[in-house]
Formats: sequence, C-alpha cells, structure tokens
Amino acid sequence: MDIKAAKFMEGFIRLTADAFKKGWHERNGGNLTYRVPASEVESVKDSLHEVKEWLPIGNTVPGLAGEYFLVTGSGKYMRNVELAPEENVALIKIDEKGENYGIVWGLVKGGRPTSELPTHLANHELKKKLTDGKNRIIYHAHPTNLIALTFVLPLNDKEFTRELWEMATEDPVIFPEGLGVVPWMVPGGKAIADASTKLMEKYRVVVWAHHGLFVCGDDFDEAFGLMDTVEKAAEICVKVRSMGGKKQTITKENFLDLAKEFNIDLNTDLLD
Ligand code: 13P
Ligand code: ZN
Repeated sequence: MDIKAAKFMEGFIRLTADAFKKGWHERNGGNLTYRVPASEVESVKDSLHEVKEWLPIGNTVPGLAGEYFLVTGSGKYMRNVELAPEENVALIKIDEKGENYGIVWGLVKGGRPTSELPTHLANHELKKKLTDGKNRIIYHAHPTNLIALTFVLPLNDKEFTRELWEMATEDPVIFPEGLGVVPWMVPGGKAIADASTKLMEKYRVVVWAHHGLFVCGDDFDEAFGLMDTVEKAAEICVKVRSMGGKKQTITKENFLDLAKEFNIDLNTDLLD
C-alpha cells in the first residue's frame, strides 16, 4: 500500500490539520511523532527506501532499537503536512544501539526530523516501557493560553495543576496525575529532554515555561484530546483572571468526592 493511503497517515494528518486550525502551531511551531507498529510498517513497505545515511539522534534510546517513527520535519509547518506529507514528514528507523536514525520515506525536498527528536524519543522510550507498549504518540504544541499562564502562575507542578484542575470539573478525570512544569530552558537538546522525561515518569502532560506543552497518548485522539483539554482549562483561567479573578471555586472536598464517584486515582499530593 502507498504510505499516503495508510490509516496511520490519515490519523497523523488529521491531528496536524486540526491542531493548526486550533491556533497551536504558528509557523513551524510544534512537532508530532508516532511509533509505527511493525505490522503497519510492513503494510507500506513498497513505499520505503533503504537508509542512505545514519545520523545521531542526540540522545540514547536503546529501548527503541529497530523501531520506526513517523515524525514532522524540523522547520516544516503543521499547516502544510496535509498538502504534501512527503515534503513535511519523514518515516525514520532507529538503529540497533538506539543512537542513530535513518530516513526511509519522506522529506523529499530535504530536511531533517524535528529538533525536539531527543525529547520525543526519550519520552517514547519511557512511555513504551511504562504502558507495556500501548503509548504510541508524543506531541508538542504552542497553545496560546497555556503559554500566557506560564507568565503569571507559579512554575511548580502543584500550584499549576491545582489551578487548571479547578477550571473545569472533569479535568481531573482527564489528567488525574496532574502535570509537570519545566522552567525556561533552551529548546531542542538533551538537557530539556532529560528534564521532561523525568517529569513524564509520573505525568502525561509537561509544561515548558514560556514555550508550550508536551503530551503523550496511546493514539492520535488521546494525545489531541489531552492537549485540547489542558489548553481549554488554560483559556478558562485566562478569562477568569481577566474578569477579576475567582469569586468561588471547586474545593478540595469537591475533588475528593469527584475522585470517589468517578473511581479515579487522583494525585492527592497536589491537593495541598
Ligand atoms: P521544529 O520545527 O524543529 O520541530 O521545532 C519547532 C518547535 O516547536 C521547537 O520546540
Ligand atoms: Zn516548541
């Protein structure tokens, strides 16, 4: 099958197109990676070519040796993925040591995978292990309200989570572990990869101060839905603050009742 006709390509494109329309991807902002199952790689093998060059990942991910990833290109625009996936996206293979990658499809007009590949792959390696292989998506975006909040909320997991949980009753059901906050860091290297991966050991959402948000998901819907939920909470927070701030809110007892009724494992460490 032509890789462009594959179901996973359809899911990848739908996310990039919808997310651009949400306003989360100015210019080349944000990046998306999908760990492609062996059966799906096999189904599109006629579209693939040999690896011409192995290049360093910028991180070491032995847990991903031999795996394939569909990844957005560095400097490529999310809004263009739909129009020409072969120019803006690549299918890459990881070598046997988990140190290098090679392109087997895409980026036909040149380019390389996203500059955040060290963070994406480190998080894939971690989540693959923690979820018994179920997690397949790592996704980074630049959602406006969330970024705005990183200029006014305290940059710690507890206060950031609590503020966002309070913004919509069902938010703690969507991210009951809470979220982690990485302070401002230089994008695109191993240092920010290490800081993010450390937080992803306990969370599925990580805020990058004054930059954006990282989420994971078993599938495209889950990753998109998580990004959407957190950004919507941030938007409500911005509106509440613009209207003069909270006059009433959801209490600690309310959260505990919700956790009981919905049978969720709410991270009560973040509830003061
Ligand atoms: P890339 O174009 O290299 O994916 O970078 C965009 C980005 O958002 C970096 O954090
Ligand atoms: Zn970014």
